Amino acid sequence: MSIEIVHARNEDCLPGMADASFDLIYIDPPFNTGRPQTRTQISTVRDAEGDRLGFHGARYRTVKVGTRSFADSFDDYLAFLEPSLVAAHRLLRPEGSFFLHLDFREVHYAKVLLDQIFGRAGFINEIIWSYDYGGRSRQRWSPKHDTILWYAKNPRRYTFRYEDIDRVPYMAPRLVGAEKAARGKTPTDSWWHTIVSPNGKEKTGYPTQKPLAIVERIVRVHSNPGDHLLDFFAGSGTLGEAAARHGRHAMLIDASADAVAVMRKRLSPWLGAGGDDAATSQPGTTPLRSRPGTTRRP
Ligand SMILES: C[S@@+](CC[C@H](N)C(=O)[O-])C[C@H]1O[C@@H](n2cnc3c(N)ncnc32)[C@H](O)[C@@H]1O
Repeated sequence: MSIEIVHARNEDCLPGMADASFDLIYIDPPFNTGRPQTRTQISTVRDAEGDRLGFHGARYRTVKVGTRSFADSFDDYLAFLEPSLVAAHRLLRPEGSFFLHLDFREVHYAKVLLDQIFGRAGFINEIIWSYDYGGRSRQRWSPKHDTILWYAKNPRRYTFRYEDIDRVPYMAPRLVGAEKAARGKTPTDSWWHTIVSPNGKEKTGYPTQKPLAIVERIVRVHSNPGDHLLDFFAGSGTLGEAAARHGRHAMLIDASADAVAVMRKRLSPWLGAGGDDAATSQPGTTPLRSRPGTTRRP
């Protein structure tokens, strides 16, 4: 199993990659929110004057550790996205699947574009990931979901590992009997899952990090062990962790040095001996599956 981190703009390295190299591509591009995506990391230090109360009455003060940010504003969002969507189609193997994770701002335009690239028949599902976190609007229904579009390169033949779908509880378990209730049911195209908790273990501090469980479900069901996965807007490397946990290979591309640093740290248990700096070749100029556990830089 190899995890490869590439520090590059995807438009610079996707064109050099060989056709039909990947079994599953998941991308979660910037959502075009019109404002930079920023996350400030904090830490607490012991301080008798601090504003936080801890164990045994000890007092702590909050200190700002740093801020991570990336731009999220594009005048012509589809023009930004289109070349990489075309590349995704080319890079998929015949039975491969593509997942595009967006929110309500751009997903409808992207759907029309993807229908042209994959063909309308290639569209298999619109998955709604619903969460419940943050404030409520008094002017409209508060948007609390993202949309994940699933396209198959061949709508008659694609990987769908039904037996590997995790089960969710029945809403009315008493109506279905003890055995079924204990087993749970398969999820539909509406997935309920909390966001990455700001205080939880999963948090990397990278803005817009997606929950591992959501991405793991995609990896488990839509790829086979040993398959090759790609995320070319990789951020904190959620796809990489999901791939590593389930015995898949992954290539993770991101233009941001911050993202690459976060990924190196997060994925260090799976990066091979020789570490991050083992490979220095130009992305796309060497065979994709070069070495296990390497980071490549442009
Ligand atoms: C929404 S975040 C991805 C979050 C990721 N799914 C996670 O769970 O952490 C989008 C990422 O796309 C990266 N990005 C934006 N434009 C890019 C480009 N042209 N090439 C590669 N990466 C890019 C940003 O640096 C950012 O890390």
